[in-house]
Amino acid sequence: MRSVVSILDLSTSEINELMNVADDIERNPEFYRSKCKHKILATIFYEPSTRTRLSFESAMLSLGGSVISTPDSKISSAAKGESISDTVRVISNYADIIVMRHPKEGAPVVAAMKATVPLINAGDGGHFHPTQTLADILTIRRTKKTLSGLTIGLCGDLMFGRTVHSLIEAMLRYPDNKYIMISPNELKLPEYMREALDKAGVSWRETESLETAMPELDVLYMTRVQKERFFNEEDYVRLKDVYILDRDKLKTAKSDLAILHPLPRVNEISVAVDDDPRAQYFYQTLCGKQMRMALIMLLLGII
Ligand code: NCD
Repeated sequence: MRSVVSILDLSTSEINELMNVADDIERNPEFYRSKCKHKILATIFYEPSTRTRLSFESAMLSLGGSVISTPDSKISSAAKGESISDTVRVISNYADIIVMRHPKEGAPVVAAMKATVPLINAGDGGHFHPTQTLADILTIRRTKKTLSGLTIGLCGDLMFGRTVHSLIEAMLRYPDNKYIMISPNELKLPEYMREALDKAGVSWRETESLETAMPELDVLYMTRVQKERFFNEEDYVRLKDVYILDRDKLKTAKSDLAILHPLPRVNEISVAVDDDPRAQYFYQTLCGKQMRMALIMLLLGII
């Protein structure tokens, strides 16, 4: 059964094809209106989410399909101690495709092995979040008109930020990009991501200073410090506001910089930046919906 747990489950040509389909959805939404008629998508989220779950549900409804959803995991059978394996085996009988978010890294891999319908990982712990990456790269392609030769700054919680890990894995497939990892020392990229960068032989460096990196950047990917993954409140409080992007910091930025953020934002981008034409983070959510529409069709064998 074809599932997407990591962005590496999709080939580069499939990712490119998904972007082309998303562009076609943008031009011609009517054509896709009934593509998933009589198909059912189930969302099972064991962690809070607003946009990812609603984005999937909106994507399926825009394809003419239907959506079923578990209530909060505290009041679904998970609270009775049911295993993920049993849950997905049951839901495979109710739905044609399953979207799952889970706080445990690797849980969607187990789930995908047991599901008898395609399963999409909508985020597992601090690990991966492949469909956010699909949103991110479409946003980059549409705003920068290329996915190569870019200097990309990733800023904030690079240790626990799963969207960062998936985005790096995806961008490494496109040539000649340079990476600047901007984080406090405590929130640097995990070892497995550093190895991936070294193995790919790309140019990358680390800094604690957003200001010094800014003038070089074509893309700035801001992230939230992942409060829920901290072991103690004190560390979180100390680190949460280390980077706050405001108008002043953007003075040295390129005029065609693209500013992305997977959202939710806490304090890391000042609301005064929202009106700057370089801010793409709300547009990014539209790109995410269109890419999820394309992915659902791919996994259901419709495209
Ligand atoms: C991200 C996530 O869940 O990892 N949000 C999202 O899916 N849009 C980022 C975050 O929670 O900070």
